[in-house]
Amino acid sequence: MSKEAKKFGFKATVVDLEDYDLSEITNEKLVIFLVATYGEGEPTDNAQEFYQWLISDERMEGELQQIEFAVFGLGNSQYEFFNEMGKQFDYELHKLGGHRLLDRGVGDDDKGSIEDQFNDWKQVLWPILTMKYLGISVDESSADLQTFVNSLQIFSVSTDQEEMMMTKKKEEEKHDNDEGKEKNNTQWATFDRDYDTHWLYGQMALRIHNPFSEAELRSVVSETKAKFKNCYAEDVRINPNLLLPYRRHHWMEQVTKALITDIHEARPRADDGSTLHVEFDITQLKSSNGLHFNYKTADNLGIVPKNDLKAVQFLCQRLRANPDDVIRIRNKNQEPLNIAIPSIVSIRNLLLWYLDINGIPKRQTLQVMAQFALDEREKAQLQDMASKTLATDQPTIWNFVSLLRAFPSVAIDLATTVEILRPLQPRYYTIASSNKAQPNRIAITAKMEMQLADSEDLTFIGVTSNYLRQSKVNDAMQIFVQPSSFRLPLPKIPVIMVGVGAGIAPFRGFLQEGNHLISSGQYTIQEGTFADWWLFFGCRYPDRDYVYKEFLESSLHANGGCLKQLKVAFSREKSHKVYVQDLIKENSDALYDLLINKNAQVFVCGQPAMGKAVRAVFQEVIDSHQKHVDINTWLKSGKYVQELW
Ligand SMILES: Cc1cc2nc3c(=O)[nH]c(=O)nc-3n(C[C@H](O)[C@H](O)[C@H](O)COP(=O)(O)OP(=O)(O)OC[C@H]3O[C@@H](n4cnc5c(N)ncnc54)[C@H](O)[C@@H]3O)c2cc1C
Ligand SMILES: Cc1cc2nc3c(=O)[nH]c(=O)nc-3n(C[C@H](O)[C@H](O)[C@H](O)COP(=O)(O)O)c2cc1C
Repeated sequence: MSKEAKKFGFKATVVDLEDYDLSEITNEKLVIFLVATYGEGEPTDNAQEFYQWLISDERMEGELQQIEFAVFGLGNSQYEFFNEMGKQFDYELHKLGGHRLLDRGVGDDDKGSIEDQFNDWKQVLWPILTMKYLGISVDESSADLQTFVNSLQIFSVSTDQEEMMMTKKKEEEKHDNDEGKEKNNTQWATFDRDYDTHWLYGQMALRIHNPFSEAELRSVVSETKAKFKNCYAEDVRINPNLLLPYRRHHWMEQVTKALITDIHEARPRADDGSTLHVEFDITQLKSSNGLHFNYKTADNLGIVPKNDLKAVQFLCQRLRANPDDVIRIRNKNQEPLNIAIPSIVSIRNLLLWYLDINGIPKRQTLQVMAQFALDEREKAQLQDMASKTLATDQPTIWNFVSLLRAFPSVAIDLATTVEILRPLQPRYYTIASSNKAQPNRIAITAKMEMQLADSEDLTFIGVTSNYLRQSKVNDAMQIFVQPSSFRLPLPKIPVIMVGVGAGIAPFRGFLQEGNHLISSGQYTIQEGTFADWWLFFGCRYPDRDYVYKEFLESSLHANGGCLKQLKVAFSREKSHKVYVQDLIKENSDALYDLLINKNAQVFVCGQPAMGKAVRAVFQEVIDSHQKHVDINTWLKSGKYVQELW
């Protein structure tokens, strides 16, 4: 948006709400808010403070009357409080006197690409803004809105200025000769590989301020070369302590490098899907902020994913880039970069760790690729693809890599690639272990996201799924922990757990904890100090995807464990499908008693659609007993907690 704004002549600033100085708000004229909803209709962590300010009793009528605003909300319509923050921001800003420029944009993660929905909304917004502020009429379908102008520059960091200039000159000559080809935004130079990237980065971080002079850099590099003659660059994501990326995310402070101690298939049979059980050793680890690394039962584990090396090698060839080249990325207009990529990085590490090369391409990516296509037929085909929403179930899985394979005339360069691809984001896994039972090991249950064309041929695999599948015991991964809303109540409170597929993860952690409390003699079932725990688990077949079967059964009271009832729904075992909702309904009376008379707490984990169906059936359970309770009040009070993803 800010790039587009500049193109039209607006002076725009992008700011993370948590970094915003609220005392500035009355000086703003035009503000566009992009707000996501998390939890149960709650703001994201970085929007908390701003939201509290907005709804505070201290706000005065007309306080924001000088502001013109528009709000785009991000949400998922499977949630009860769909797009709640979008609604609230829009309502409160208007209430405080702000002038709404455009109807609230409603992004729905459940209905295709949210980025494409945002682009559609922007197409309506820009003509309003340009007319109102600049007196310029811009058509919604105007080429001005579509044309992509690269704003990044990439410099190869060379040890030898002369060598760099020579290579640059040669490259330029080559390009001038390639008639009709786009000018390359990357200025290449060869770089000696005989150095340790990490050490080099560390030295630079310690010795050089940003921005630094080429002379300073050259002296550090030659020093490094002299010391480390035969060290080759490691495939590692840069430790954020060594070199600051331009834009740091909160999780970067918490990352640690942990070794895998166990990784195995959790399903009895993995012929039509796979779920991995993975454990990490966190004994005496520290986060990058220096604090002791620990976790709580059923927290979320973030994994910093790594792209597929073969795909990266292909990209390097295709982009005519040397993976070992160390580059520096800058904005052409010298403004700070607003992307979470280190200021200096090798091309290999840039593509392995920082850019989403595997995801479904945004429409803008297709448009830009069309712009770079030299062949007219390819250009037309890409433009056609850009005008539609790409289906995810078609035989060809489209991502940046497969597009570059399928459209060989697209002469795109690295700087544009960096600009159009999304940053590679961490993936979260609900922790499947108890910190009381195993404080030094974190377990996760990861369902492999993959589509099989037939049993042999893999057509799509998710980034982290691929990373995990290629990993083995003693491999290191960068991980971090984030708190979740799943917290076990005191043992005297009954617990009802509902999990489907990998949604069993937090309940494995809960059961481990319950079993631990009982086996250590702290609580007993017989004396009634440990309340009733029920688990509803859903999968397809008893002999294929029923994960943790032995563990779940061994957790039953009969086997000395904490679980009173284990109810498993197999959706494909028989001709008629059985889901967890059906089993909840079957046990309506007992569940009603637990919920209303014994004050039980409910936890639900799995996919959003399952969560919606389970909420509806619990509401039915209550309604059928003529009790007037709205489940939504339980969602808000924390009696009914769900983690849906
Ligand atoms: C709070 C939270 C907790 C979670 N807990 C767990 C857990 O305990 N266990 C678990 O297994 N998962 C969990 N998840 C989900 C997990 O974080 C990941 O989303 C999941 O593992 C997929 O990651 P990936 O990198 O392998 O796949 P990605 O690369 O992110 O792909 C994910 C999906 O996107 C689609 N897709 C992406 N790119 C393409 C393309 N080019 N073409 C077609 N389709 C495409 C596919 O449908 C694919 O299945 C959780 C998520 C959250 C937010
Ligand atoms: C744990 C969790 C809770 C969520 N809660 C809600 C919600 O209450 N309402 C809603 O509309 N969307 C909810 N969502 C969906 C997100 O808002 C949606 O995925 C959005 O695209 C997130 O944007 P982001 O990925 O840019 O943060 C939730 C998602 C997660 C993972």
